Amino acid sequence: MNEFKPLVFSGVQPTGNLHLGNYLGAIRKFVALQESHDCIYCVVDMHALTAQLVHDDLKEQTRSIAAAYIAAGIDAKKHIVFNQSQVSGHAELAWVFNCVARIGWMNRMTQFKDKAGKDAEKASLGLYAYPSLMASDILLYRATHVPVGDDQKQHLELTRDIAQKFNLDFAEKIRAVGKGVDIKVGDEPVHAYFPMVEPLIDGPAPRVMSLRDGTKKMSKSDPSDLSRINLMDDEDSIAKKVKKAKTDPDGLPSEVAGLAGRPEADNLVGIYAALSDKTKADILKEFGGQQFSAFKPALSELALTVLSPITSEMRRLMNDPGYIDDVLRDGASRARARADVTMREVRDIVGFLY
Ligand code: TYM
Repeated sequence: MNEFKPLVFSGVQPTGNLHLGNYLGAIRKFVALQESHDCIYCVVDMHALTAQLVHDDLKEQTRSIAAAYIAAGIDAKKHIVFNQSQVSGHAELAWVFNCVARIGWMNRMTQFKDKAGKDAEKASLGLYAYPSLMASDILLYRATHVPVGDDQKQHLELTRDIAQKFNLDFAEKIRAVGKGVDIKVGDEPVHAYFPMVEPLIDGPAPRVMSLRDGTKKMSKSDPSDLSRINLMDDEDSIAKKVKKAKTDPDGLPSEVAGLAGRPEADNLVGIYAALSDKTKADILKEFGGQQFSAFKPALSELALTVLSPITSEMRRLMNDPGYIDDVLRDGASRARARADVTMREVRDIVGFLY
C-alpha cells in the first residue's frame, strides 16, 4: 500500500560506453514507463567521480547518456531529463542520509566490495557513500518506482532502509510539519515523509550477461569488447559479436526449464525476448529445437533493427551539443523546483534554520 503520488525516477552514470545491458535493463524500461507514469530520468554525473576522480570528457559523456535517452524515445518535454550536478539538493539530502545510514549497512554493499577490489583502503569515501547519494537521488523527488537492472537491487533495499529509518526517527517532526503520508510497511502503519520505493527489475533480461561468459554480467569495464554490444556499435560489429558469442553444443530447448544450467543459451534467449518485448517462453516456442547457427543470425538482425535507429539518432544528437545542453538545463530547472520543495520540508523536519 503506497499512497504517495506514483513517480518514476532512475539514472545512468556517464562513464564509458552504454551497452545492451544498460539498454535492456534500464533505458528500454524508461521509455515504456512514460506512457503510464510521470518520470524523471537523470544522468548521474556526481556518481561518476566515485570510482575515478579526473575524467577527460565528463561533459561529453554526460551528453551522450542524455542523447541515448532521447534517441531511445524519452520525451524530455513531457517528462524530465537532466544531469544530477545541476540540482544541488542531491548532495544536500545525501549529507542528511549519510547521517541516517549506518556504517554496518554500507559494509554489506556488494557493489562497493566489487568496485573497491582488494585494496578497499584506497577507494574514495565517495565510492563508499555512493548508495546514500543514490537514495538521495530517488527520495529528493519522493519517487515511488525505480526501473533498474538486477545489479542495483541491493542499493534499492538500502534506499528503503534509509527512508524507513528517517520516517521513524523523525516521526514526530514529520507530523508537526504536516507533510507526511500514512502508509503501511508490512503490517505496521507508519506516518512517512519518504516512500518505500519499489524496484522495477522484472522482464526477460534483468541481468544481461557477457557474450563471452554467461556467468559474468555484461559490463562497461570488461576488458574484452567482444563481451558486450555497445549502443554505438556499427552493423558489422554487432553481427561479429553475436556470431562469436559463446554457446554450448546443444540446440535450443522448447521450454524455459531446458535453459537451466545453460547460462549462455539463457542469456541469448533473454536478450532476444527483451528486444522483441516477448517472453523467453514465446521465443522458445519459435526457436525450440533449432541450432544456434540458425538462432544467432535472427538475433543479430533483431538487435540491428532495434538498435540502429537509436544509434543513428544518438550520433545526430551528439553533433548538436547545444541542443542537448538546453534539454538538460530545462530539465534541471524543473527538477530543481520539485527538489526545492522537498529540501525546504526536510530542513523543517531536521530542524535546520532558514
Ligand atoms: P549504471 O550506470 O551502472 O547502470 C545503468 C543502468 O543499467 C543497468 N545495467 C544492467 N542491466 C541489466 N544487465 C546488465 N548487464 C546491466 N548493466 C547495467 C543498471 O542496473 C542500471 O539500471 N547506481 C546506478 C545509477 C544510479 C541510479 C540512481 C539508478 C544513481 N542514482 C537512482 C536508479 C536510481 C548505476 O551505477 O547504474
